[in-house]
Amino acid sequence: MDQPLHLMTPDVRANPYPLYAELRRRAVCQVEPGGMWAVSRYDDVVTVLKDARRFSSAGLGRSFLPPWLERNPTADSLVMKDPPDHSRLRTLVSRAFSGAALARLESRIRDLAEALAAELVRHQEVDFVAGFALPLPARVLNFFFGLEPDMAPRLKRWADDLVSIPASQPSPQRMEEIRQSLAEMERCFTALIESRRAHPGEELVSDLIRGEALSHEELLSFLFGLVPAGVETTVYLLANTMVVLARHPRELERVREQPALIPRLIDEVLRYESPAQSSLRLTTEDVVLSGVTIPRGSVVVALIGAALRDEGRFPQADRFLLERENPSQLSFGHGPHFCLGAMLARLEARFGLEALLPRLRGVSLVRQELPWSQSIIARGPLSLPLRLET
Ligand code: HEM
Repeated sequence: MDQPLHLMTPDVRANPYPLYAELRRRAVCQVEPGGMWAVSRYDDVVTVLKDARRFSSAGLGRSFLPPWLERNPTADSLVMKDPPDHSRLRTLVSRAFSGAALARLESRIRDLAEALAAELVRHQEVDFVAGFALPLPARVLNFFFGLEPDMAPRLKRWADDLVSIPASQPSPQRMEEIRQSLAEMERCFTALIESRRAHPGEELVSDLIRGEALSHEELLSFLFGLVPAGVETTVYLLANTMVVLARHPRELERVREQPALIPRLIDEVLRYESPAQSSLRLTTEDVVLSGVTIPRGSVVVALIGAALRDEGRFPQADRFLLERENPSQLSFGHGPHFCLGAMLARLEARFGLEALLPRLRGVSLVRQELPWSQSIIARGPLSLPLRLET
């Protein structure tokens, strides 16, 4: 009998790909922590993500509302809902992510990326996360919300506090900090909604309240959900890109010579070192997948990061190849919950790298060992010391 495999050991978080290969070999099996059912082959991950009837997202919100929290609007956010509730809300909020809505932000994102890149390359050694990968998406989300500029660092703290809720049994002091963060978010978003109702403008919240079809509580839950969704993964996309380029200097040279390759670079990073590693679901009935029966009421971890290294779908899957066609399918999810921010994230990454890469002749890692995030959902380094050659 095969031994249970563990997704959360430090070695696996630092390099999950050997474990993913073993999981694909077993097709569908239970893993630690918690005896979750791991699904890792490309076709099986697609099946899970597109079938919201048998693989439900409703119920996942419970882990964001532990007994020590009285209230947390995140538990009711879009990504934790099933159709038809999900479909109705998603239709209402989608307009805020349209091409036209993003076009209004383009020049500000470009200017911000230029300013951050110019500042970064003044130094020979930098922490790329603190100096670039984090401030870019945090400030873009701040523009997107229409908050005051000094709120950007708070968005990061809020995102960290929200994602820490399901994983931990925090100390009493930490519980109090998280409660205060949630109260601060609610005060801030409520004030924003009230001010936009009184004086509609040209940004996210005004777009969302136009037509009045969303209740105050729905709007609040949606905004809460955007905080972790909009910051963490985009930080990791930028940071993972620099890790890959430091390890593939020839590709950095090619992209510098031909900046038109930047969208391809982003796509292949999204596959090879995906910021989104998995999505969770709950089975609503017994389901047979790759010949294995997953019982009703089980937690399923759909391993996007493993599916994106599936040889059956991507020949030479463990190699980083700029010429690969359509590599990033799945890195923004699939089916009803496909990432609403995918266009915005690609735009941020493109403008960020267009500003930065032409200024760099070389980049190297100060150390090979990196402090990788300890999450099964999102993967990237928490800090990234780089030596820059300009
Ligand atoms: C590289 C950056 C990003 C990656 C890799 C990513 C990945 C994903 C994935 C995999 C899902 C599906 C989750 C599931 O099926 O359970 C998702 C959903 C979502 N993402 Fe993103 N995301 C990114 C950036 C963003 C940004 C910048 C925003 C908004 C500002 C955003 C907003 C959302 C929302 C609202 C959902 C829920 C959609 C729904 O449930 O219908 N994401 N994202």
